[in-house]
This record gives sequence, C-alpha cells and structure tokens, in this order.
Amino acid sequence: MKALQEKYRTMYCGEPRLFDTGRDVTVCGWVQRRRDLGQLLFIDLRDRTGIVQLAFDDNTDKEVFSEALSVRSEYVLCARGVLRERSSKNLDIPTGEVELEVSEMRVLAKSETPPFEISESSDVNDALRLKYRYLDLRRPDMQRFIALRHRAVKVTRDYFDENGFFEIETPMLTKSTPEGARDYLVPSRVHPGTFYALPQSPQQYKQLLMLAGFDKYMQIVRCFRDEDLRADRQPEFTQIDLEMSFADVDDIIAVNEEFLKRLFNDVIGVEVETPIRRITYRDAMDRFGSDKPDLRFGLELRDISDIVGSCGFKVFSEPVEQGGSVRMIYVPGGGDMPRKQIDSLVEFVKTYGAKGLAWTKLAGDGSVSSSFSKFLTEEESSAILVRAGAQPGGLILIVADAKDDVVFASLGALRCECARRLGLIDEGLYEFVWITEFPMFEFSEEENRYVAKHHPFTAPMDEDAGILETDKAGCRAKAYDIVLNGTEIGGGSIRINTPEMQERMFRALGFTDEDAAERFGHLITAFKYGAPPHGGLAYGLDRLIMHLAGLGTIRDVIAFPKVQNASELMTGCPDTVDEAQLRELGIRPDGK
Ligand code: AMO
Ligand code: AMP
Repeated sequence: MKALQEKYRTMYCGEPRLFDTGRDVTVCGWVQRRRDLGQLLFIDLRDRTGIVQLAFDDNTDKEVFSEALSVRSEYVLCARGVLRERSSKNLDIPTGEVELEVSEMRVLAKSETPPFEISESSDVNDALRLKYRYLDLRRPDMQRFIALRHRAVKVTRDYFDENGFFEIETPMLTKSTPEGARDYLVPSRVHPGTFYALPQSPQQYKQLLMLAGFDKYMQIVRCFRDEDLRADRQPEFTQIDLEMSFADVDDIIAVNEEFLKRLFNDVIGVEVETPIRRITYRDAMDRFGSDKPDLRFGLELRDISDIVGSCGFKVFSEPVEQGGSVRMIYVPGGGDMPRKQIDSLVEFVKTYGAKGLAWTKLAGDGSVSSSFSKFLTEEESSAILVRAGAQPGGLILIVADAKDDVVFASLGALRCECARRLGLIDEGLYEFVWITEFPMFEFSEEENRYVAKHHPFTAPMDEDAGILETDKAGCRAKAYDIVLNGTEIGGGSIRINTPEMQERMFRALGFTDEDAAERFGHLITAFKYGAPPHGGLAYGLDRLIMHLAGLGTIRDVIAFPKVQNASELMTGCPDTVDEAQLRELGIRPDGK
C-alpha cells in the first residue's frame, strides 16, 4: 500500500520489515502503549495496518524525549525517524524485528483515558462497546471484519459486472404495501397525513426494471424491517439484490453458485464445491425439522408414527390420531449424558412448544433406561431401537405433538443443541444447500388466513398452478433459499409475469380486486405491457460477511449496528423531536 500523505506519513505502521532498516520514514497513528524504562522509552504506535515500535533513548533530542514522556494511551502522534533493527525482537508481530529511532515527533491530538482498553483480547460488555463504537472499531479484529466486508462487496460488484449485471439504485422513500414485515414509515410534510415506507427490499422496483428491459440487475442496498431483533437480524440491513430476465430456477442457481465460489475463494480462500446440493422444503422439514438445516452434522429426524400410532401410550397415540406425528432423533454418543443434562433438554424443547420429550438411554455398559418404554410393548420398543439403528452409547429423543410444526421446530432445534453439546460441529466446514419447492402459502394464526410464504409476486410451480385457489396448503412455489451452516443467507423466486396470474394470486391471498388495485395497481398495470419471464434472489450481505468472518452475530460486521430494542447506543436514537418539527409534518405531539 502506498502512503500518499508525506506530511504525516510515508509508511503505515504495520509495514516496516527488516529489509527497511536504514530508511527515513514518517508514521502516524494512535498510542497503543508506552513503556518507560528510565533512560529508554518505547511507544507502540497503531494504525489500521498494525503496530510499530517507536524508540527513544540517550541519543534522542531532549525535547522530543520529554514530549514522548507526556504521551498517554490513544494520543494521536506523528513520528519521524530512521528504522533500525531491534535488539530484542518480537516475532509475534510482523514489524517486530525493527523499530523507529525517533528524531521528530508531534502530538496531533490528546486523548482522555478510554473507557476500555483498545485490544482484541479485552473483554468489554456490549453496551459499553456500542456506546463508544468508534473506540470499539479501533480494535484490530473489528478493523479486520470491516476490511473483509469491503473486500466482499468489491468482489461482488466485480463478479456481477463481469456477468452483465447493471447496478441500479431504487428509491428509499416508497409506497407501503401489505404483506411482509412491519414497515418503517416516514411522514410527508407536503402531503399531511400521508406516509412513505422505507423499503423492506426493492422487490417491486427490481421487477419493474425487468419490465423496463434492463435484463440483469444487481444492487447492494439497505433494507428496513420493523421486526424483533436476533443475532442475525437488524432493523436495517444490507442485501445483495439480484434480478434476471428470461431465466428459470436453474439459471438463477447457476449464476449464484459461480458467485459463491468466487466470493468464498477470493475473500477467505475456501473452495465451494458445486453443484451445491438441493433439498426440497418437504424433505428438509422431514429430515432436519427446519427449512434452514445445518448440514455439518447428521442427527436426522425419523418418523415413528407408524410404530406408535396405535400403541397404548396416549402421549404418543393421541397426537397421531389428531393428525400430528411422533418423531425422533438418534444421538450417537449421547447415551452417557447424565440425567440432569437430559432434563435440561426436556426444558429446551418446551421453549419450542413441545409438551415433553421422551427418551431412551443406551449407556456404554449396555444398560438401557427409558422414560416411556414401560408404556409400550416389547415389539414397539424394539422397533424404535431398530429404526434408530441404536447402539450402546446412544440416545433416542422423541417428541409427539398433534401439530407437525411443533414436532419439527422442537426436534430441529434439539438436533442443533445436541450437536453443540457433544461437539459434533466442525467449525471449518461450509455446508451450503439450496432449499427448493417452498410452499406458496403459509397459514397465519395471527391473521387467520393464508399469507404468501415468500412474497405475493412469486410464481407457483408449473404443475401446481391449477391448485392455487383450491389447495393452498399443497401448492408449491418456484421459490428457493440458499442456506449456509444453518443460516438462511439468501432467498428468491421466479416471479409471476402475467396480469392474470398476479390477479389470481392477490385473490388467493384474500384481497378484493379493489384492494389489490389500490395497493398494487402499478404492478398489475405494468404487467399489461409485456413482462418478460424473470426471477431473482437477495442475499443478506451482513449474514454472508458474518460467515466469512467466522462470527456468530451480524452486529460485529456492521460498523454502527442497533441493539435488541432497535436503538443505537452511541447517538441515542430513536429520539424525540421538537414539537414544531412534528406540527410541520401534521403529527400531533401527544401521539393521539
Ligand atoms: P428475503 O425477505 O428472504 O427476500 O430477504 C433476503 C435475505 O435478506 C436477509 N435478511 C436479513 N438480514 C438481516 N436482518 C434482517 N432483518 C433480515 N431480513 C432478511 C436474509 C434473507 O435471506 N425481495 C426478496 C428477495 C427476492 O425474492 O429476490 C427478499 O427480500 O439473509
Ligand atoms: P408422563 O406419562 O407424563 O410421565 O410421560 C412419560 C414420558 O413421556 C416422559 O418422559 C415425558 O417427558 C414424555 N412426554 C410427555 N409428553 C410428551 C410429548 N408430547 N412428546 C414426547 N414425549 C412426551
């Protein structure tokens, strides 16, 4: 890297090496620490590239020496001198064989004692880190994550540019349309009582760009959703958003597999094997209890409803009679789990709505204990062991429920929990999988109606187009997600491209024609003017970066993130505003 600002610097702190000995250089940065050994004084100076040691001794100009004595942690300095070989080398850092024999030094800014030490290893509570985010971001690991994010964005733009995609910006002030998450609204001053919505994604605009003939579109774009936060969810986040014309599912998947290969290779040197495996939504639920399965380990679900559906144990038989199921996971190596741990697994599944967890332990010494076998016949118990392929040392965990969703959610989470507890997860693996053939609809208990599982512009599978109105639970969509190590990193679909199908879809979702026209009229009209077949996908950029950086939360890859309650601790937003400002927007200050 060439340092350009000769007044302040001719080299970055992390650059000097043994072969630079004898060079007259200027560096600047922040004081990491000062060591005062009487006649000798050392200052570690830090910038985003690393640390260099500044040395002051008997030969140093007296004024410079006393200035150096006044320096404290996080002062900003500029120092000039000659690089020399160190007498005691520190081979732990790249610059550790040299030091700068300082001849001139300027304090560019002083610093108060920071509220925490600026170092990778310092263990600081999150609230403090976020309140002083600019200090937190000085930490070398944070600097690495942000640099990695920059690199990933650069590789992304290059890849899509090389493949004929145009980057096109879409509005941030948009029309609120129903479906999807809650909107963030922006009041209009010019039209009192009306609101813009911040985009949850540029979905409709990118489809209209396909209608406009741009053929291939991409955008790295901020999206806003007023949802509850989690480790992989922020109210504002970034998508790598794509759309392609004259493309079906396989075309979209092909472009994206090449992209993922390039991204992981260029940014972290990981080879992504293609083709990436594909699992249908149905199979993913049956085998892993989840539409974002972590495939770094096995522990697959097995249905045992046929074995226990008419047994004498009501806990098992009743759910089957009521249309639900009984399923298990088999955990090799779990048989020696102490009873207390198993009890905690019982509590664990209850948080997913399960009413209980039945278990059979096959201890290493051959003894068997079970929470339910006394309620079953010999044949039923042994049929379960056979289906599990159980061996001494194994553990069988069973959930029964009248709702399949509860069985899937609890066992899906339990398989991940058991894998974590038993250390079955190889952190060096990147297991990608496409989940395909998503259901078109899902039933919303809250709204007591079927809503779009992906969004209302998603096309049904060709073979299911006829059952759009008549079999909502069974109708499948041309929708797909890309999942990495148990996280949904992206999702998309082939879109509806005729006004007739789009109107059928709105009706199937329960919109009257008037509602649909009012909310989505622009799209319905547009489709009357020749819409190419098209489809696309959007990645959660923050989630991708989280995986590239090997982290467990997207917060660490966002420079200024929000916390659980959607506030930002550094600036203190959201915040109140002047009454006058509210009145101008036609909003009454009392909120009524
Ligand atoms: P979807 O809603 O699945 O699809 O979003 C795409 C991807 O964005 C990421 N994501 C989030 N990341 C962080 N915080 C959030 N709150 C958040 N919400 C979503 C996920 C997700 O896979 N317009 C469609 C895409 C399309 O059909 O082309 C869409 O937005 O990684
Ligand atoms: P009980 O007859 O209530 O003592 O239950 C016997 C065993 O069945 C216990 O291990 C319970 O935890 C377990 N159990 C209860 N409800 C369920 C359920 N819905 N699914 C699986 N196991 C259950």
